[in-house]
Amino acid sequence: MTTELVSAYTEDGSALNEETIRRAGRVLREGGLVAFPTETVYGLGGDALNPASSKKIYAAKGRPSDNPLIVHIAELEALSAIVKKIPEAALALAEQFWPGPLTMIFEKSDLVPMETTGGLSTVAVRMPDHPAALRLIREAGGYIAAPSANRSGRPSPTLASHVYEDLAGNIEMILDGGHATIGLESTILDLSVEKPVILRPGYITKEEIFGVPGMEEDRVPAGLHKMSDKEDFHPKAPGMKYRHYAPKGDMTVLCGPMQRVAEALSELSRAASARGETVGILCSKETAERAGLSEAVLFSPASREDPAGIAAGLFEGLRRMDEASCTVIFAEGFPEEGVFIAVMNRLKKAAGGNIIHI
Ligand code: TXA
Ligand code: MG
Repeated sequence: MTTELVSAYTEDGSALNEETIRRAGRVLREGGLVAFPTETVYGLGGDALNPASSKKIYAAKGRPSDNPLIVHIAELEALSAIVKKIPEAALALAEQFWPGPLTMIFEKSDLVPMETTGGLSTVAVRMPDHPAALRLIREAGGYIAAPSANRSGRPSPTLASHVYEDLAGNIEMILDGGHATIGLESTILDLSVEKPVILRPGYITKEEIFGVPGMEEDRVPAGLHKMSDKEDFHPKAPGMKYRHYAPKGDMTVLCGPMQRVAEALSELSRAASARGETVGILCSKETAERAGLSEAVLFSPASREDPAGIAAGLFEGLRRMDEASCTVIFAEGFPEEGVFIAVMNRLKKAAGGNIIHI
């Protein structure tokens, strides 16, 4: 199969390319696969209500079929057809965060095939905050199942070129919408249980979620706020148990006071270079300056004062390490607060739990 890579926008970038998005919608309605931009990461879309499309998504990604897909909608009215009931808190959360990077899990209705939910009786739903995605969902009939558009195990794609790298030849079309602005996958909140639980940290923080009326702190199960390094968020999100985001090189995250992390990065990378390793470093701008890391492949997307900037560059940085054939990778750890909680969750997974506290 040839994969068509095409811009979601008109040539001068001023508007959505209506004709292209209509054509992409038709591909989806006919059971094909289209990767598309969202504000978090690129998604690999198929018709969520067509079991054959979901099967194709698993095959194209090389993803285990017990790992459920997120259903993307464009209107709140679309929710009631695919879930059994909508808890009141969900409406308050949707009001505040949709369209946006929050995925909520509900009891599913019979309309949603088991193929889409990986055999679960619950369904994950999100309304993305991206004009091309919203238009595509409407053109496709209202429900697009979409995991991140990477090959299973690789970092999530934040550029159309990342999707092309991973999936060319396996899907019909890729809609290019430029850089995914957030760069981290959505926060996942399970509302199918009595006490809502965050299953995957993301750009929307737990403080924001549990600040919404009806979501007061006492409903959060004990332990959620304190996680050890090795621990995942709740293992109930089947995707969180698989190896993820990992670059090919041997990766370690260094945590501690900034000055000491900078010194350690510098020492460790010099020693690894001397052993003949190709060293890659992911860190903040400040740490890069302090450490003087001239012999390493360096990716430092933003300042430590700008967690959103660090988040937006994270997956691109992990891919850069592979492009440069890094055999050893060191990453700066960040204090686990706010958006950095999600950043650290991805870094720890990428490093396979390899963390040094200094
Ligand atoms: O930002 C995002 O969420 C992106 C964009 C494309 O929307 N999508 C995304 O999908 O990250 P994916 O498939 O890479 O990650 C979805 C996660 C997986 O860990 C999966 O196991 C979990 O959501 N999940 C999906 N449905 C679930 C369900 N019913 N119960 C528990 N976990 C679920
Ligand atoms: Mg994914």
